[in-house]
Amino acid sequence: MEKYEGEKTMKLIHKGKVKRVLEDPESKDRVVIEFTDTVTAGDGAKKQEFTGKGKLACDFSEFLFGYLEGKGIDTHFIKRLKGPQLMCTKVEIFPIEFVCRNLVAGSFSRRYGTEKGTVLDSPLVEYFMKNDDLHDPLITGESIIRLGLVSQNDLEFMTKVTLSVNYYLSELLKQQKLTLVDFKLEFGKAENGEIVLADEISPDTMRVWDATATSLDKDVFREDKGDLIATYEKLLTAVKTARSEDVEARLESVYIIVEPKPAIKNPPGEVTRKALIRLGFAEVEDVRMGKVFNITLKKPLTSEILKHLEVMNVKLLSNPISEKHKVRFE
Ligand code: TMP
Ligand code: ASP
Repeated sequence: MEKYEGEKTMKLIHKGKVKRVLEDPESKDRVVIEFTDTVTAGDGAKKQEFTGKGKLACDFSEFLFGYLEGKGIDTHFIKRLKGPQLMCTKVEIFPIEFVCRNLVAGSFSRRYGTEKGTVLDSPLVEYFMKNDDLHDPLITGESIIRLGLVSQNDLEFMTKVTLSVNYYLSELLKQQKLTLVDFKLEFGKAENGEIVLADEISPDTMRVWDATATSLDKDVFREDKGDLIATYEKLLTAVKTARSEDVEARLESVYIIVEPKPAIKNPPGEVTRKALIRLGFAEVEDVRMGKVFNITLKKPLTSEILKHLEVMNVKLLSNPISEKHKVRFE
């Protein structure tokens, strides 16, 4: 049992490698996440205590979740408690880690033999299955869907949010001449069905380089190359003094594809089919003609905006009786 503000005790719900999740005695919809001083690397093979690390990781998470919330991204963060603890919305964590990479480093470099520091053409999102016994293997999006770990819609949604987070974190760091190399995110589903960013965001879960490619993150510990606490403190100061209000909103593009339902006659498709056959394309069997809306949003995707897209469909974009529609985020 842990002491809580106001002398209440909190029951342990879950004990991770470096964090503990405690019951919030005042609400079943909330939890308290407590950051410990433990640092692990290499799947727990390397482990050490650093006094003050828990508080620093908590400070980072508090600040960065707050920053992302300010930019319109939904997170589990509610408020900071006195100790290295955050009050958060209670969620069920999806069993996937979302790793986003801008530059080659870490396991990507080892897996493909690509030189560390190589800049990727555009940000890459990789998925890892959260499973300690299997050592969190890399997994494809198709496998995630086939195994029923996450639905296609939810996976596309979280991938899109990961790329938004990458934009907002990269731009913030860029102001301090720092480069976001890669990071890991986790998402959870709240009681009300909303998908929110969860877990933590700190130098334990991201790589950041300065202009000379010096690490300001857990690589200092992984590769025994410096003072972890001093490094984390330096990065925290840099992040907190960046002008977050100068980071501009990113426009997000979504597609809504509307098609006639299979049982509905589709004269424009039929006209096109006949014309294609007249032109000699004998392989054409059937053509169904629908429409595509490419909608640009001035806010990051959230569960609420997804609901708005459904309402837009019902009210204006498609006819629910004769047409089916799907939302695509790529
Ligand atoms: P990786 O290069 O080891 O795959 O890690 C990529 C990024 O994700 C790096 O910033 C560290 C972070 N990460 C975690 O936070 N937890 C993990 O379990 C793993 C594998 C990576
Ligand atoms: N965070 C992972 C672990 O604790 C792996 C790593 O970041 O190196 O094992």
